[in-house]
Amino acid sequence: MFLTYSLFMNLLAAGLTFLLYSPLSLASPTSPKTTCALIGKAISSSSTVFYPEDAEYSLGIDHFALSAIQNSTCSVEPDTALDVKIILRILASTRIPFAIKSGGHNLNLGFSSTSGILLYMTRFNQITYHAHTNTVDIGSGLTWDQVYAALEPYNVSVVGARATGVGVGGFLLGGGYSYKTNQYGLAVDSIVAMEVVLPTGQVKTITYTSDEDLFFALRGGGNNFGIVTKFTLRTHPQTAVWGGSIIYPGTQAEAVSTALLKYTTRVTDPKTGIQCTYATYGGESLVMVNLFYDAPRSPTGIFDDFLSIPAALLDVGTRSYLSLVQSANTNLTSHTRGVYNTISHTAVTSSLLTAMRNETNVYSNALQSQSLVLNGYVVEPFLPVAYHRGTSATAYPPDRSQAIHPMNIYYAWSNITFDDVMFDAARSSAASLRGSAVREHILGSAKYPNYAISGTAVEDFYGKNVDRLRAIKRKVDPLNVMGLTGGFKL
Ligand SMILES: Cc1cc2nc3c(=O)[nH]c(=O)nc-3n(C[C@H](O)[C@H](O)[C@H](O)COP(=O)(O)OP(=O)(O)OC[C@H]3O[C@@H](n4cnc5c(N)ncnc54)[C@H](O)[C@@H]3O)c2cc1C
Ligand SMILES: *[C@@H]1O[C@H](CO)[C@@H](O)[C@H](O)[C@H]1NC(C)=O
Ligand SMILES: *[C@@H]1O[C@H](CO)[C@@H](O)[C@H](O)[C@H]1NC(C)=O
Ligand SMILES: *[C@@H]1O[C@H](CO)[C@@H](O)[C@H](O)[C@H]1NC(C)=O
Ligand SMILES: *[C@@H]1O[C@H](CO)[C@@H](O)[C@H](O)[C@H]1NC(C)=O
Ligand SMILES: *[C@@H]1O[C@H](CO)[C@@H](O)[C@H](O)[C@H]1NC(C)=O
Repeated sequence: MFLTYSLFMNLLAAGLTFLLYSPLSLASPTSPKTTCALIGKAISSSSTVFYPEDAEYSLGIDHFALSAIQNSTCSVEPDTALDVKIILRILASTRIPFAIKSGGHNLNLGFSSTSGILLYMTRFNQITYHAHTNTVDIGSGLTWDQVYAALEPYNVSVVGARATGVGVGGFLLGGGYSYKTNQYGLAVDSIVAMEVVLPTGQVKTITYTSDEDLFFALRGGGNNFGIVTKFTLRTHPQTAVWGGSIIYPGTQAEAVSTALLKYTTRVTDPKTGIQCTYATYGGESLVMVNLFYDAPRSPTGIFDDFLSIPAALLDVGTRSYLSLVQSANTNLTSHTRGVYNTISHTAVTSSLLTAMRNETNVYSNALQSQSLVLNGYVVEPFLPVAYHRGTSATAYPPDRSQAIHPMNIYYAWSNITFDDVMFDAARSSAASLRGSAVREHILGSAKYPNYAISGTAVEDFYGKNVDRLRAIKRKVDPLNVMGLTGGFKL
């Protein structure tokens, strides 16, 4: 009697009371297949479990990068937070590996894919705009395209992704760099509230006031703390914007670098945004530039240099925010194999740009015979003020006194035989650029988790925040339920 009571109290203290009421025995060995069936029986009729023979299954497991796809045992499409809670409870007791997928744009195998149970968040697709509070509630399974399109009639928008197809869930939980970051900070700085299914089974709305620790941890800490079903974001006025994409032949790389250096040393207007990519595509050198100005016209003097360089393709002008985002040429390589890696730097210098161009060309030459489709090195300069827009601390970035530019290193290829060769290239090339940055004293303090390759240490993202994040993790997820899913684990 006494033992039972104290066991009960211990479990209660650990926040595991839901397990006591679970119909499943912790000891019974359960396969992924039987877990799919258990889930199917337990969830409400608005949620569905799909199997490989169902048409919906292939959309569920699909990813931007083919190399990130795994055949899950089933693909579950939950429709309510309550059903997510029921599913998480079953996974907690069966200990079957699972994955959470929002937009499927993470390139790392196993981060939003699994051979176990896939939770595809696509039915969390509601968008509710609150004009009186300048906020919008968005389901975690939406793409940014859908959010921008829904807000367009109200002449407002949010701090979201710069390319088509990126999901709300992974982007926001990793930090979120946007064309609007110079004006409003990282996407995590625009989060007002999150509806979360916690690993212990409660469904909670987390705000700064309700739970300062979790509000800090979820904003950058990835999928370590639970499954987010809904975000509330601050909205901002949105007019038509100016910009789009330009592709220059490789012969103009020097001229583009000069224009970029001038831009980064002179422009302080927070309405601007820019990405500059040194790339090879099919073995040809290119420079791809995406320009953004948050008004129907860009003031003269800001982007003139870029516009005067002879381009192979020029698609800039006054357009909607959504149209500008969809003009980026990122779909060129959708459904090829792919890997990202990253370093952060604190300044854009001539020698760093030269080193990036060199990496692009050296590795392109070496990997042409190994089915390389594209490799790209993206410079993404942000103003120091971008890091001072938030009003409370976030998991990422750990040090806001230092303005960092997250560099995106991207390899796309077609033949599975060369996966390891490409991962190695992405790693050694990043190491080489890190060396260049160190030599110039411009290495940034933290890597951006959403650009990082599998295996990167969490200390590299969270720095001094790691201890606090681990303590929060232990408290929120004592049974390490979120350890059953892939990602950067605390
Ligand atoms: C073409 C392209 C363009 C990009 N553009 C940008 C950009 O402009 N700015 C930028 O900052 N980044 C950008 N990225 C990087 C992007 O932020 C990451 O790839 C991000 O992980 C994508 O989010 P997702 O929801 O699509 O990914 P998913 O692969 O679905 O998920 C990524 C991770 O988040 C977790 N997750 C997803 N949803 C939830 C949830 N609801 N609850 C808990 N965990 C969840 C998953 O488990 C997984 O670990 C881009 C990537 C690509 C491929
Ligand atoms: C998934 O299964 C299908 C059908 O068996 C197979 O053709 C495909 O190669 C598998 N995909 C992966 C990524 O394992
Ligand atoms: C949005 O802006 C357009 C163009 O300025 C205007 O015609 C329209 O009335 C505005 N809509 C709302 C809801 O404010
Ligand atoms: C990008 O590719 C996806 C998947 O093939 C497609 O659904 C989407 O419409 C494309 N987007 C643009 C802007 O071309
Ligand atoms: C170019 O990059 C390669 C690969 O990192 C490196 O070995 C080489 O030294 C670089 N060359 C120059 C001129 O920087
Ligand atoms: C992939 O590369 C291997 C090794 O070169 C080759 O044998 C194979 O035919 C290639 N596969 C495809 C689909 O090209």
